[in-house]
Amino acid sequence: MSQLQGKTVWLTGASSGIGLALAEALAAKGAKLILSARSEATLKDLAARLPGEHQVLPIDLMQPEAAYEQAQALVAQQPIDILINNAGVSQRSLTLETNFQVYRNLMEINYFSVVALTKAVLPNMVKRGDGHIVTVSSVAGKVGTKLRSGYAGSKFGVIGFMDCLRAEMADKNVRCTTICPGFVHTQIAHNALSADGSKLNQSDPDNAGGISAEQCAKEIVAAIEKNKAEVVVGSGVSKLAPLLQRFFPGLVRNMVAKR
Ligand SMILES: NC(=O)c1ccc[n+]([C@@H]2O[C@H](COP(=O)([O-])OP(=O)(O)OC[C@H]3O[C@@H](n4cnc5c(N)ncnc54)[C@H](OP(=O)(O)O)[C@@H]3O)[C@@H](O)[C@H]2O)c1
Repeated sequence: MSQLQGKTVWLTGASSGIGLALAEALAAKGAKLILSARSEATLKDLAARLPGEHQVLPIDLMQPEAAYEQAQALVAQQPIDILINNAGVSQRSLTLETNFQVYRNLMEINYFSVVALTKAVLPNMVKRGDGHIVTVSSVAGKVGTKLRSGYAGSKFGVIGFMDCLRAEMADKNVRCTTICPGFVHTQIAHNALSADGSKLNQSDPDNAGGISAEQCAKEIVAAIEKNKAEVVVGSGVSKLAPLLQRFFPGLVRNMVAKR
């Protein structure tokens, strides 16, 4: 029997891409899901077709304070075994051209909403002496490249948050896993913010050439089951980049400047 059998898993970003594939993989393992994103109809369809009993909780993670209150209300009703902070928005715009508000928006969803939801579920996990916080950062949280200065800032930020949390939770049996995907074939580029904050609405050959969302989800589930502290998921150069950055930082600086 899978160790995920019967666990209550709150999954954000469940309406698309990696989150959708994660919902399918976790439901197949017998987890009881609370599916969150803004697209309520998509989540309801998903909950209805997945094996098992699942709930839908529409949430807007661009509003972390309101999300925190929603999360507290949820935890008051039922304990969460595993929180997966997966929802996120990317960026495709140069720093010189990007509105300051775009930086704020990227931090709201990719950083502050992670802090908000984690802070809401954590006290109950500590009280029970059991829980698992999983946050999907990115290889962009390890290596900065052009056109992603706001996205990388938010994704570097959550890695730091998770590192601190892991240290604080080490003696409390609350496990902390950070996932850093490289390129994955999803709608991430279409949904990425451009300089004025509008959606890019274009595909990106790097993401289109990446691993499938299903493969990514499979590796994330394995990382959860093995209680990994941090895993890089992907293939090719995007998977190698964090390792190259650590041992050959000058080489990586040259590579990203020319790309
Ligand atoms: N794809 C990649 O190459 C890649 C690489 C590294 C890291 N990642 C990370 O992986 C995670 C999932 O991305 P993906 O590739 O699956 O992208 P995606 O297909 O664009 O899915 C993004 C998910 O986030 C949700 N979301 C967006 N804005 C939201 C908001 N304001 N409130 C609540 N939910 C919101 C979306 O749901 P609604 O629109 O229904 O709200 C959707 O379910 C993100 O954190 C991303 O940064 C992706």
